[in-house]
Amino acid sequence: MKPKVLVTRETFPEVIDYLAQHVEVEHNQNDEAYDEAELMRRLQGKAGVFANPTHRFAGELFAACPELKAVCNMAVGYNNIDVPAATAAGVMVTNTPDVLNETTADFGWTLMMAATRRVSESEHFLRAGQWKRWRYDDFLSADVHSSTLGIIGMGRIGQAIARRSMGFNMKVVYHNRSRLAPELEAAANHAQYLGMEELLRTADHVVLVLPYSPASHHLIGAKQLAMMKPTATLVNIARGGIVDDAALIAALRSGTIAAAGIDVFENEPAFNSDFLTLKNVVLTPHIGSASVPTRRAMAYLTADNLIAALSGQRPPNLLNPDTFQP
Ligand code: GLV
Repeated sequence: MKPKVLVTRETFPEVIDYLAQHVEVEHNQNDEAYDEAELMRRLQGKAGVFANPTHRFAGELFAACPELKAVCNMAVGYNNIDVPAATAAGVMVTNTPDVLNETTADFGWTLMMAATRRVSESEHFLRAGQWKRWRYDDFLSADVHSSTLGIIGMGRIGQAIARRSMGFNMKVVYHNRSRLAPELEAAANHAQYLGMEELLRTADHVVLVLPYSPASHHLIGAKQLAMMKPTATLVNIARGGIVDDAALIAALRSGTIAAAGIDVFENEPAFNSDFLTLKNVVLTPHIGSASVPTRRAMAYLTADNLIAALSGQRPPNLLNPDTFQP
C-alpha cells in the first residue's frame, strides 16, 4: 500500500501526477483555505505533507497526527514549522534551498532598482495622465551603480545578489551570523564584513535576505532606520517580521530613508494598509521566487523530498537529520 500524503494548496498538476506515481495523494487543487483544525483533520492517517509556507506546523499538530513522518515545505524559509517540535515527534522536515537562489537574487535587484529609481511612483503619475511635459527634475533619485550595497544575511541568495553588483561597479558590505570564508567573500564582489550598525550607516542601499527567527524579529526598527542614509533604499525579500512595518512606514513618510522595496510583510497577506498611502515604496505580494522554472523546480524538489522520506531514503534537504532512520 502506498503511503498517504496531503498537498495543502494548489500546485502544478504535473507535480501532483509525479507524486501520485509514488504515494497516494490527497490534493487541494481547488485551493480551499484550510484553517488549523481542517489541516489537522485532513492530516489524519497521512504519512507526509507537501506543505505550503502559509500553513503553520506546531507542537499540537504533531501530537494530533501521530502517523505523520514528513513535512516537506515548498519554500527555502521554514519559520512556519516548529522544527524542534517536529524533531521531538520524530517528524522529518525539509525545505527547497538552492533552486531559487538566482531567481530570488534577480528579484532583490528588481526591487532595489525599482524603488531607488522610483519606477512605481512615476508609472502611477504617467497612468494618471499627470505627465504634461518633460522636466529636468522629474522623479530625481539616488543612483544604484557605483554605490555601496549592504546585504544583511549572506547566505546563498545574498551571495548571488552580491555577484550581480560587479557589473554595476558597486562596493559590497555585508553582515551575517558568521563571516564568510575569504574565497566566498572574493566571489561575492570582494564583500567586506561589517557589524550591523556600521553596515546601516555605510550602505547606500540595504537588502535583507536573512531567515526569520525570534532573534531576527524587528531587527530593523525605528532605531536602525535612523542609522541609514536619508538617500538609502531598504529592500526586504526575506520574511515579514524582520522589519517593524509601522516603523518603516513612519521612516518612509518622514524621509528618514528615501525608499523601500517590500515583498514580505508582517501578518501577510493582511499587510499594514498605511503602506498604500506612500509613494516611495514598491510593494509586491511575496513573489521573490516566482518565475515559472523556479517555482516548478521548488515543487518537484518538495515532491522528491517527500517521496524519499516515505520510501526510507534520506531526503535531499533534510533539516533535522536526527529524525532519519535508514
Ligand atoms: C519563499 O519565501 C521561500 O522561503 O522560499
